[in-house]
Amino acid sequence: MKVLVATDKPFAKVAVDGIRKEIEAAGYELVLLEKYGEKAKLLEAVKDANAIIIRSDVIDAEVLDAAKELKIVVRAGAGYDNVDLEAATAHNVCVMNTPGQNSNAVAELAFGLMVMAVRNMYNGTSGTELKGKKLGIHAYGNVGRNVARIAKGVGMDIYAFDAFCPKEVIEKDGVKAVDSADELYATCNVVSLHIPATAETKNSINYALVNKMPKGGLLVNTARKEVINEAELIQLMEERPDLKYVTDIMPAANETFAAKFAGRYFSTPKKMGAQTAEANINAGIAAAQQIVGFLKDGCEKFRVNK
Ligand code: 3PG
Repeated sequence: MKVLVATDKPFAKVAVDGIRKEIEAAGYELVLLEKYGEKAKLLEAVKDANAIIIRSDVIDAEVLDAAKELKIVVRAGAGYDNVDLEAATAHNVCVMNTPGQNSNAVAELAFGLMVMAVRNMYNGTSGTELKGKKLGIHAYGNVGRNVARIAKGVGMDIYAFDAFCPKEVIEKDGVKAVDSADELYATCNVVSLHIPATAETKNSINYALVNKMPKGGLLVNTARKEVINEAELIQLMEERPDLKYVTDIMPAANETFAAKFAGRYFSTPKKMGAQTAEANINAGIAAAQQIVGFLKDGCEKFRVNK
């Protein structure tokens, strides 16, 4: 059995070593394709792979067509919007993710971005503190929960909205559960986004919603760029010079944001929320173990396609 690790954004070496150990202990062969850049290289590498470990790498119908021996794809991470689930099902390929394994890393980066923004991008002027400010967590999944845990230590007043998570679950953590996204944005000085990119959420962070934020509002995005309605956010930030936007996922309109909103906009050059040795080890080894469990015992825990 051949297990391909196809990561355009590579894992830390220590994580690759851990993945290799798991795969070789099962008697399988590990093949590494890193920083491949062009899709053609991925199409070539998947030809004889029985299993693939990916990160944000795109697995679409073309890749699945090329991967004639493929049985399973594991997205080492949470969001699987980069995998065509319907095409995978049609190709009889199981798709899994590794929920929770990299969420602390992402949550810590959300705070890194927050501190940078409230300290005026470290430009030497007086900023503000996070303590005592109202934080809105938009979606209370694994990352949202870690954000809440950290925010408690920082002394923030924490609110959350999650359309799918029962209020009792949120409030058990000492977080105030609100009834709608509108209420969350209207209440909070800082909103941290943790929604997945789905048909329902794409472009949902729009003018009307963000405009509900109080004066000096800060929007932090460590989720997906697709959830932002970029044209509307640009229009709003033009009209409201008090708003700031910091993101770990470079917008399609990065140049426009950077040119128009110097000092109140920042994007990491490459998504790096999950770029820690710990997150790479946790997610990478979980992915390897899930592949072994699937191939040896048919275990389908964490399967995300039908
Ligand atoms: C995830 O969905 O797990 C995170 O967005 C991290 O993505 P990455 O593996 O591409 O860094």
